[in-house]
Amino acid sequence: MDCSSKYNINQSKISLKLNPVPILFNKNGPSPKKIKLSDNFHRNANFFANGNSLPKISIQDQRRNLPIFEKRNKLLEIIKRHKTLIIIGETGSGKTTQIPQYIYSARLQENGKIAVTQPRRVAAISIAMRVALEHGNGMSVGDVVGYSVRFEDVTSKKTKIKYLTDGMLLREAMLDRLLLDYNVVILDEAHERTIHTDILFGVVKSAQKIRAERNHPPLKIIIMSATMDVDHFSRYFNNCQAAYLEGRTYPVNIFYTVKPHDDYQTSCVATFFKIHQEAPANHDVLIFLTGQEEIEACAHQIRLLAKDPDVEGPPVRVCTLYAAQPNSQQMAVFQPTPSGTRKVVISTNIAETSVTISGIKYVIDGGMVKSRSFHPSTGLELLKIQRISQEQAWQRSGRAGRQSEGFCYRIYTRSQFELMKPTSIPEIQRANLNSVALQLLALDIHMLHFDFLDKPPKDSIQAAFEQLKLLGAIEDIDSIALTSLGKKMARFPLDPKFSKILLSAEQYGCLQEALTVIALLSSESILTTPRSKRDQAESVRQKFRSGYGDHITLLNIYREFDTIGQKKKRNWCHEHFINFRNILYVQDVRSQLEEICKNFDLHISSCGSQIDQLRKCLLTGLFMNVAELQRDRQYVTLDRRQVTLIHPSSVLHGQQPAYVVFTEVVQSTKCYLRGIISIEGEWLREIAPDYLRNHNFRYSKDC
Ligand code: CDP
Ligand code: MG
Repeated sequence: MDCSSKYNINQSKISLKLNPVPILFNKNGPSPKKIKLSDNFHRNANFFANGNSLPKISIQDQRRNLPIFEKRNKLLEIIKRHKTLIIIGETGSGKTTQIPQYIYSARLQENGKIAVTQPRRVAAISIAMRVALEHGNGMSVGDVVGYSVRFEDVTSKKTKIKYLTDGMLLREAMLDRLLLDYNVVILDEAHERTIHTDILFGVVKSAQKIRAERNHPPLKIIIMSATMDVDHFSRYFNNCQAAYLEGRTYPVNIFYTVKPHDDYQTSCVATFFKIHQEAPANHDVLIFLTGQEEIEACAHQIRLLAKDPDVEGPPVRVCTLYAAQPNSQQMAVFQPTPSGTRKVVISTNIAETSVTISGIKYVIDGGMVKSRSFHPSTGLELLKIQRISQEQAWQRSGRAGRQSEGFCYRIYTRSQFELMKPTSIPEIQRANLNSVALQLLALDIHMLHFDFLDKPPKDSIQAAFEQLKLLGAIEDIDSIALTSLGKKMARFPLDPKFSKILLSAEQYGCLQEALTVIALLSSESILTTPRSKRDQAESVRQKFRSGYGDHITLLNIYREFDTIGQKKKRNWCHEHFINFRNILYVQDVRSQLEEICKNFDLHISSCGSQIDQLRKCLLTGLFMNVAELQRDRQYVTLDRRQVTLIHPSSVLHGQQPAYVVFTEVVQSTKCYLRGIISIEGEWLREIAPDYLRNHNFRYSKDC
């Protein structure tokens, strides 16, 4: 059955034809082994959505009710005895919120601090807030309990328990390899295996060893997760011990679709309304989709359909959660809904682990994830939507069983589930390693000699060092030392190509503009073009269009946005089909980058209307991303001679500049370049002569 036929989605109004035939789900036999009934089922039933079905209990009682509470003395004993320890405990057992507090109360951190890393900023912030609340005595976050994420540092001299993203701890390690500020480092959600966590494993392991050799205060390392390959981790950490905590998760009833559904997004919406019509209002729903575009489209559909008089069910509050949102927006998912209203959270895999969104009783799992993969042979990094792993599927369904028995609707069949990879491939084995190689060099570590838990592919390492050399961050491929430019590049939380652009901008007198473009490139698209209003959107944005390409067009938009008064900005965005949230995020990123530039005493110059200066400046970082027009009107990339086309969404589509610089490659049936500016071929000779010599560049003026 094709479920898309159940929704008649026309231009301006989405009308719901209540399905004569619902999406068919099969219940999975017995619950899988990871999801089991807890003996404390009734005792913990107080955490119902919004607290409106059962009386509230104090936050301290909630802490005492957690499974970890009874074990705290024993756990502290074990933590005291071991310098490195793995702690495994089911989600909701209290690892992330309680263990740092127990350590703090027992003063195991002595004169140092306790760092607790999280793979995502929303988790670091929400958990720090929760723990500050639990810690009590009228203290707020930023006192004893604080957090630090890429654009926000909420800590003070008093802070002893610091939740931070793994990326932030890695940045701190760049300033102090031994992490002497901390006596305890907890690497949480270790199974997520982000590049940063994988690097941190090696960094803390080496810091611990060196501190012991040099008689510094010892560093205690704790690795925590709900699910991970304990033997593999234990071997890596010198055969350290593992402690197992009993969890308290509730049974989750799993349902699979009877038939495959390719349009998983529409199927998620349909499934939501099936639940919506039957479940009590305080049973909230969590939907997993892949990225901002899908999530916002789904949110829009649900909002519209929920208002349809034909649709039964309580009022709905729709919340979205994805990485590109500003912090404040992400935090909105944690706000309680008024009684009698159903909350639906539509999220990427951010909500898969670490965050607790209270009230979730139903999970709808679209079964897909957006993931980045790097191909050293072509030098291209592709963002692809692909099937999740079985491990992710279990994590997702587990979200429904955190506070009471739950339900998970999987928008895939049982056999599709069985075909999924058992576990996800660590990011370090599939990503572009440029930034990480640079960051490690800032720690005086050459990636080839780094003690990895799982080594990344050799050709990815090779490709990263070649790029760093071309960018001028290192003298040659084997060097351990960064050049002075390389040292500065490492200070930016950016791809080295982008840091190089910012650091070249002074020379071209265009730092203002370069900051804007790099901030725009670090965010999700600021353009919103509803299908039904495409012509209108394009005509109102026509005045921003630049014949030089997409980045300059976006720069023109940002420049005008900047001149609009604070109060009028939202309206202006609405009128120009600009995503208000995303452009605020750009503004935020931009000011952070500007701060770093000011620390280097860079002159924040502007090139005004001399856009050539900016185009040249962009080329200083992106000369490896140049493509040349061929006689057959296709483009060939200079680097790998890949045949490509200009993406139809580009402002340069339909024009044929002889040379273009691109920032993204998308592969569908053909290979497309996206995010394009035109450049003059002769600039390449001026800006990247060495690169040209090695790449057989056949530039001729009459091309
Ligand atoms: O880390 P782990 O999954 O073991 O659990 P946790 O994050 O420490 O959370 C333990 C419990 O604290 C959750 O099950 C929630 O009941 C509660 N909690 C909460 O209510 N709000 C939060 N922001 C975090 C946790
Ligand atoms: Mg946790």
